Amino acid sequence: MIIGVPKEIKTNENRVALTPAGVKEFVKRGHTVYMQATAGEGSGFTDEEYQQAGASVLPTIEDVYEIAEMIMKVKEPIEPEYKLIKKDQLVFTYFHFASYEPLTKAMIDSQSVCLAYETVEKPDRSLPLLVPMSEVAGRMSVQQGAKYLEKTMKGRGILLGGVAGVAPAKVLILGGGVVGTEAAKMAAGLGADVTILDVNLARMRYLEDIMPANVNTIMSNEYNIRSLIQQADLIVGAVLIPGAKAPHLITRDMLKEMRPGTVLVDVAVDQGGCIETCKPTTHENPTFIIDDVVHYCVANMPGAVPYTSTLALTNATLPYALQLAEKGWKKACRENEELKKGLNIIQGKVVYQAVAEAFDLEYTSLEEVL
Ligand SMILES: NC(=O)c1ccc[n+]([C@@H]2O[C@H](COP(=O)([O-])OP(=O)(O)OC[C@H]3O[C@@H](n4cnc5c(N)ncnc54)[C@H](O)[C@@H]3O)[C@@H](O)[C@H]2O)c1
Repeated sequence: MIIGVPKEIKTNENRVALTPAGVKEFVKRGHTVYMQATAGEGSGFTDEEYQQAGASVLPTIEDVYEIAEMIMKVKEPIEPEYKLIKKDQLVFTYFHFASYEPLTKAMIDSQSVCLAYETVEKPDRSLPLLVPMSEVAGRMSVQQGAKYLEKTMKGRGILLGGVAGVAPAKVLILGGGVVGTEAAKMAAGLGADVTILDVNLARMRYLEDIMPANVNTIMSNEYNIRSLIQQADLIVGAVLIPGAKAPHLITRDMLKEMRPGTVLVDVAVDQGGCIETCKPTTHENPTFIIDDVVHYCVANMPGAVPYTSTLALTNATLPYALQLAEKGWKKACRENEELKKGLNIIQGKVVYQAVAEAFDLEYTSLEEVL
């Protein structure tokens, strides 16, 4: 198969869909890979490294879309890319169709095959191509939180781990899923006093078993949250209710009960946030202050660490991409239920129910197309 990897053109996107190591895996199996020049630059990979791994480098984005049977990307295509996508071309990337109608319509019109990273699903309902970014964001939340707790950053001026004779900071984590668990590991490793709140008892039992002694779990409810926020130094929002907006577990009136300089990192901001006063910010201007409480609400946290994020993402996508290249999308999806769930739009037909429902479009069942 001919695989094409364009350079990401969305603002501030430095990740790339394939590393030189990934190129080698394709080439080893007899496939051809075309990289757009400087596609890997933002993640620290040079054109020469890709060439040494066996890829050819093409000068423009048009060249890559023109030649490829499968396009591998990171972010959803944006407007200038719509017209480059060809009939029957396989596009494997994050799409998040249900959140943007113009993209959905453009991909229907393109007659391409759209396989979305975010809906590839394992039998236990976990989303293997979303997990790596949650891992990155979870770990980063504590790194960022520690920084904004410094006095010059308007925080309380407290060191997460304390020192001998001085108590460590208290870190409160709302939601003990992928983001919350990674945040807890980082905060605990730095010596903080960590509390995870969740509503899922089975999950909390598991966390109690695997976490170090400086991590505790507590049932998430308004009573417990109101009492714990009064003593917390850093609060990480990591709640997810699949398919729904995040619940506002911390409301505006609760800010007055917190100490000045408390830091809130709402990782769930991409789903509306679990802290009422959070609104999306960027890496250029990540924080704002309300009632002396520092809010950090960057919607694309992994974007700050493109090297780690690219490797984490491609570790997860490559095995699926190799199957698509080896078998073609139809056979690969027939034989792999996880990949099959990633199919959203096939040659003008919407085959993912939630996308059809989001925009009142005709839904075609996969069985009719595969
Ligand atoms: N900002 C970013 O850059 C970024 C990056 C990755 C993920 N995210 C977001 O982070 C959020 C968390 O993602 P995840 O992968 O950890 O999800 P997850 O499904 O693994 O975990 C969510 C957890 O929230 C818990 N929960 C549900 N309701 C709760 C409540 N009322 N109180 C406490 N806990 C509750 C669930 O039981 C679950 O354990 C999502 O909104 C995701 O989109 C943001």
